[in-house]
Amino acid sequence: IEVQENSSITEHLHFVFAQAIALAFPEYKDTPVSIAPVNSASAKFGDYQCNNAMKLAKQLKEKGINKSPGDIATEIQRNCPVSPLIEKLEVAGAGFVNVFLSKNYASQALSGLLRNGVKPPPVPKRRVLIDFSSPNIAKQMHVGHLRSTIIGESICRLLEFLQHDVVRINHLGDWGTQFGMLIAHLEDRFPNFLNESPPIGDLQVFYKESKKRFDEDEEFKKRAYSRVVSLQSGEPNSIKAWQLICDVSRKEFQTIYNRLDVSIQERGESFYQSRMLSVVEFLRKKNLLEPDEGREIMWPDESKTGIPLTIVKSDGGFTYDTSDMAAIRHRLEEEKCSWIIYVVDAGQSTHFNTIFKAAERCGILDRAVHRVDHVQFGVVLGEDGKKFKTRSGDTVKLSDLLDEGMKRSLNQLESRGRNDVLTPQELKDAQEAVAYSCIKYADLCHNRISDYIFSFDKMLEDRGNTAVYLLYTYTRICSIARNSGEDFSDLAKVLEGVNIDLSHEKEWKLAKTLLKMHDILIKCSNELFLHFLCEFCYEVCTVFTEFYDSCYCIEKNKAGEIIAVNRSRILLCEATAAVLRQSFFILGLKPVAKI
Ligand code: ARG
Repeated sequence: IEVQENSSITEHLHFVFAQAIALAFPEYKDTPVSIAPVNSASAKFGDYQCNNAMKLAKQLKEKGINKSPGDIATEIQRNCPVSPLIEKLEVAGAGFVNVFLSKNYASQALSGLLRNGVKPPPVPKRRVLIDFSSPNIAKQMHVGHLRSTIIGESICRLLEFLQHDVVRINHLGDWGTQFGMLIAHLEDRFPNFLNESPPIGDLQVFYKESKKRFDEDEEFKKRAYSRVVSLQSGEPNSIKAWQLICDVSRKEFQTIYNRLDVSIQERGESFYQSRMLSVVEFLRKKNLLEPDEGREIMWPDESKTGIPLTIVKSDGGFTYDTSDMAAIRHRLEEEKCSWIIYVVDAGQSTHFNTIFKAAERCGILDRAVHRVDHVQFGVVLGEDGKKFKTRSGDTVKLSDLLDEGMKRSLNQLESRGRNDVLTPQELKDAQEAVAYSCIKYADLCHNRISDYIFSFDKMLEDRGNTAVYLLYTYTRICSIARNSGEDFSDLAKVLEGVNIDLSHEKEWKLAKTLLKMHDILIKCSNELFLHFLCEFCYEVCTVFTEFYDSCYCIEKNKAGEIIAVNRSRILLCEATAAVLRQSFFILGLKPVAKI
């Protein structure tokens, strides 16, 4: 059988073994195939393993057929179609079929990669909406939103690379009762706001002022309530005031997005105002709303377990629940997405579970065709292991955090003496690359579900699985071709005269590591965990270093003159760089030419 171009090795082997099992044991043709990469350092076990035989032996035994796993494995092996990807198959141990990859295939695949760039593995395409970042107007964008922003952006990049049709949505908290008091306060502070943009400097201060008045002044409170009503009914002056307030936050958010290289489309809760009205109608018609102390609630399932959603408040207003019901309906029915990903902290997991169940119950969500994920993540802790706060106990402002990162990254570069070597522009590029890459990578490289400790010292270390280590290794790899004295700018041309040779053990190991990329990308997108890609980058860098330590790419004599250039090995360096570059892009790391 043929290997599809850019296919993931694991996926291809699934295909091979599915066919073999179907031929050898037709009654088990739908058994899920189990393929695992071999982690053993010993080359004699091969590179991948199919371990279906053991389970099949059990199943056959239940039917009264006695066959040893070894015999079953042999039958599977005999029925495997010939594939250019496989050098040989061997039955070993308790009934494993060991797969040895073909060097010839690997060499071809790497040539293709160098010629055409890293291409995505083929996957079925979906229209997918990613709801991420989603801070709240007039409130501080905090480290939780930073995590959502970083993880969300990377998931978007991953799925875009896999050629899905990606819709990036910022579900801003821009609608709600707090706007009543903000509008009322705006009217008093800046009576001329309709003609002249009010100079609200600090929206947090403005928020606090209005909250104070709301709590202390009855007349103000009444007016605040009436402004909520006029806002929700679309009264032009209130809408104008609301827009002015939103603009202040919007600008602040945008500077953060620019710094982190995040692009996102705003579609806040206010967008769903009319759709909230219609989703309430929809639920009412289906008889799914029931009264509860003046409110109208909806249970996620008929048995009334779990926590009900509050769809209509006792004052007739809507809630966070209502807006998410309207949003999921809009996304699936109007936006025609078949996959929705919510990147929101783990604290909201009950909320999303309830929304998903309720959406299923009322027929909006059909799990047979739709996929919905709550991509949850843990909290950010300070180095003391407690919730991340400033010394005075306030929440950390994101812009301050990024500034601090910039300062620390410059210190780190200076302590390595880079300011003497790099031009001012190069130093600035390196500073930014290190600062933002570090912050992103520190977040992405852990399993997102666990809490993580935010430590500039840790993330700026140049050893271990850190962004700094990866960036340094990457620039070192890029410098090899540059320093060879030969022209590697046109790789297709270089490839005309060179075959990538994988006879050295370390060359072979590096090649196989690089070719795992497609497996990793598919795993990341199936499970929506990016730390697998981070671990892969780290593995590529360490395996590269092993290769580079034992394989000469450029040989020099005692006088330091180049006497031999191994083009095949330099092509391997270039392939490594290409794989890293693509992975870095997905992770939001910005490599620089010099560092
Ligand atoms: N604004 C919310 C918060 O800060 C997050 C919104 C997440 N998205 C959603 N569809 N509920 O907690």
